[in-house]
Amino acid sequence: MKFNQSNIKKAKKYLDKNYCIGIPTETVYGLAANAYENSAIKKIFALKKRPRNNPLIVHYLTIDSLKKDCLINNNFLKLYKKFSPGPITYILKLKKDSKISKYVTNNERHLAVRFPRHKVFKELLKQLRYPLAAPSANISTKVSAVQSTDVEEEFGNKIKYILDGGRCSIGVESTIIDLRGKPSILRFGGLDTSKIQKILNCKINVNINPKKKITPGQSQLHYSPGIPVKMNMIKPKNNEAFILIKKRKVKLSNYFYLSKKNNLNEAAKNLYYCLRMIKNKGFKSIAVEKIPNKGLGQAINDRLNRASKYYKKKSLII
Ligand code: TXA
Ligand code: MG
Repeated sequence: MKFNQSNIKKAKKYLDKNYCIGIPTETVYGLAANAYENSAIKKIFALKKRPRNNPLIVHYLTIDSLKKDCLINNNFLKLYKKFSPGPITYILKLKKDSKISKYVTNNERHLAVRFPRHKVFKELLKQLRYPLAAPSANISTKVSAVQSTDVEEEFGNKIKYILDGGRCSIGVESTIIDLRGKPSILRFGGLDTSKIQKILNCKINVNINPKKKITPGQSQLHYSPGIPVKMNMIKPKNNEAFILIKKRKVKLSNYFYLSKKNNLNEAAKNLYYCLRMIKNKGFKSIAVEKIPNKGLGQAINDRLNRASKYYKKKSLII
């Protein structure tokens, strides 16, 4: 999508005044604010109803600007050269004199950083004198937003502005890797972990559901469309929405296809879009057929798994 300078200017005007705005990224839309300003960051947590102890990802345009805030290491440089800008987030140590707001990291001494690839977002960052903290633009525990109208649906007029960048090309959040010590994957996401493994040339830990949570985002309560989701189903019940990975010849109004030909990248792109659409059509539950657990299928299964746990837990509380 081409960017429009007057929209970028508008976005900058609000950010400079410490407001939060919706921004497009190649993964999902973000709710962005100046990462150096306490008052701006506090607004993100309030709008998202996000627990204060859940830290935020900070988005940079260049490695030079990152170096002002974080200590970098060899593994970071290897991955950065290959995959950034793109759907990968690195956990790095914060420098003592970093200007990052303490609310971004919940007072911890490490920071999640990402270099976005989306043209509109990059153009915006070019014009700012600070990096942008941006969690996904959805109310906490809900489905992420993959187009500007989704952000509107989540926040309505509670936010000043949404910078439109079209539909997100990847459709699931970035892969998160902790690089403070031995590399460890904290979240499956838009970059296939086997590609990361090849570059680092070592076995990397996968630590997406640790007993002691490194990030509250590893919570099982996440990504919920607000109705029950059941995985690995062969067919749906009456009146239930059915999500399929591969197009069949059947044309039923409750069948939703993530991909035409079993393509997992295409399926990831359509996942949140599809969950939101099903919810908005008024279905009361969702069955999902088995999704291969390789490539971006790992991220898809991770999100669906958490979405299904959310409802189970909720129904226990009620
Ligand atoms: O693709 C993405 O990553 C999107 C776009 C907007 O960049 N952002 C995103 O942010 O997904 P959010 O806040 O929805 O998810 C960030 C995850 C959370 O699980 C959070 O706990 C974890 O990253 N996280 C953030 N800072 C961290 C830190 N310092 N250490 C460990 N985990 C961290
Ligand atoms: Mg999120």
